[in-house]
Amino acid sequence: MKRTHTNNELRLTNTKETVVLKGWVAKKRDLGGLLFIDLRDRTGITQLAFNPSSTLYEKALTLKNEYVIEVTGTVIERQSKNDKLPTGDIEVTVTKLTILNTSKQPPIYIKDDADTLEDTRLKYRYLDLRRPTLQQNFQVRHQTAQAVREFLNNESFLEIETPILTKSTPEGARDYVVPSRVNKGAFYALPQSPQIFKQLLMVGGFEKYYQIAKCFRDEDLRSDRQPEFTQIDIETSFLNQAEIMDITERMMKHVMKKVKNLEFKDDFPIITYKEAMNKYGTDKPDTRFDMQLVSLTDIAAKTDFKVFTSNIDNGGIVKAINVKNGANLYSRKGIDKLTKFAKKFDAKGLAFLRYQNNAFNGGITKFFTDEQLTELESKFDLTDNDLLLVVSDTEKVVHQTLGQLRAHIAKEQNLTSDEDYDFLWVVDWPMFEQREDKKYYSLHHPFTMVKDEDLELLDKDPEKALAYAYDLVVQGYELGGGSIRIHNKEVQNKVFDVLGVSKADQREKFGFLLDALNYGTPPHGGIALGFDRLIMVLVHTTNIKDVVAFPKTASGQCLLTKAPGPLSDEQLSDLGIKISK
Ligand code: AMO
Repeated sequence: MKRTHTNNELRLTNTKETVVLKGWVAKKRDLGGLLFIDLRDRTGITQLAFNPSSTLYEKALTLKNEYVIEVTGTVIERQSKNDKLPTGDIEVTVTKLTILNTSKQPPIYIKDDADTLEDTRLKYRYLDLRRPTLQQNFQVRHQTAQAVREFLNNESFLEIETPILTKSTPEGARDYVVPSRVNKGAFYALPQSPQIFKQLLMVGGFEKYYQIAKCFRDEDLRSDRQPEFTQIDIETSFLNQAEIMDITERMMKHVMKKVKNLEFKDDFPIITYKEAMNKYGTDKPDTRFDMQLVSLTDIAAKTDFKVFTSNIDNGGIVKAINVKNGANLYSRKGIDKLTKFAKKFDAKGLAFLRYQNNAFNGGITKFFTDEQLTELESKFDLTDNDLLLVVSDTEKVVHQTLGQLRAHIAKEQNLTSDEDYDFLWVVDWPMFEQREDKKYYSLHHPFTMVKDEDLELLDKDPEKALAYAYDLVVQGYELGGGSIRIHNKEVQNKVFDVLGVSKADQREKFGFLLDALNYGTPPHGGIALGFDRLIMVLVHTTNIKDVVAFPKTASGQCLLTKAPGPLSDEQLSDLGIKISK
């Protein structure tokens, strides 16, 4: 029979109607005489009732959880209503029952708050996916993809696919590789992003490209990272940084309106990379709460406190955050715990001062003169029971420690709301960072254009050169990043030189791109947004697995299919591969 309604549709207005419903048995309640079934489909739940006088009663008693059934019945008003369910005012008295399929006892609880081990749920992912929250997450994922396509199509973008079997693309992770059977000893790399191809599409004259693209990166996994993930990937010709940021921002506002019915009237704020690091200690600040990093280096230098002065003499800095009401929130023991946390980020310690009854006390108060304490007071907007947490170290350690501590305390103290979307642009990124091995590494990727006024710094002082690069940040996540690209061969060569990519390697790895730059490459630039991360913030989860249908574990395994798995000897021999034991 044809289904007449979904399980989230029937209301009091449908009373007396004959309906046909299909779905899974989510719950069976036998009230000794009356039998109720919660019938579930992807939209929701409808209560079915079987009367003991009905000839169907015996058959209904045989139903078990996750059986798939079809029922015909009459909608009636419920005696005891359930205001938690949209269909909670009615139930369906069943007149016909067909069992479409039976089910073994499921190995996991199919409900949202069950504490089944994640590994077991991933093994039976097809059952776990039946959970209402996951069903809802994939509705949002679908709606978001629709909204993105709708917006970009209206802006005259073309959706174009790029290869999966390709050459290495430089996004800073290890490649996943695929051996070629026909070309023994040769390997494809799976794309870390469509970066090079989207640039070549601009050379190819398409002007506005997008793709909801799969990317593959063999890197250490975290709760917001998967080895294969999806990007909203965009590239444009003839647009400058401000124009690309504007398109992206309007796209995000369109998505927020369509998916969350939220209006964003104001422009997203823009801060520089330097400002982000100075004020928040991170390049992806959560700006839903304040607690900014404040420099105390000048005051600290005047004290007799050796920890400060010798650090400052060695080029270090001293900074603090003010935890509002912290003196009440964190006892001595609480501060010890925060210190332990701070040490994870290489800080040697965490100093503190309490502010109570208009004066500082405790911790390192004794190392400051009255005059210095007054100066300290003027730096903060202090109220009673504030707690200053102070780190003295290299700039890098101070920023990473206080940046992390700030986020940690906000989480502990519930300072943020999931529904507060603090979109923020971070611009003016350095082109490179110099690491301990003294080599330069791109902060974005090697195709990022240096700011016109910094072109000369590539030869003189590469670390000072800024890029036309921009990141979009929300709720402390790096949602996306992009840049204006180099369209001039000489500049591209120069950047490769700074990065220490030998001429032979430049030819071998990127020869085709360098060649393409000889043939009228238009000025171009773009951005990629992490699609999975966007869905995470839209559905309020911190676990990326909740928004990926068939995710992998931290060790890159799919527990459902047991990938990756071994190859047979025959396959290995076809590929010309020997496994060393
Ligand atoms: P980038 O490497 O910054 O830029 O990636 C863009 C966005 O993709 C998301 N992302 C991830 N999401 C889940 N799991 C991962 N392992 C993962 N890695 C990255 C992040 C990130 O901001 N080609 C450039 C873009 C460009 O310049 O146009 C690129 O890929 O949200």
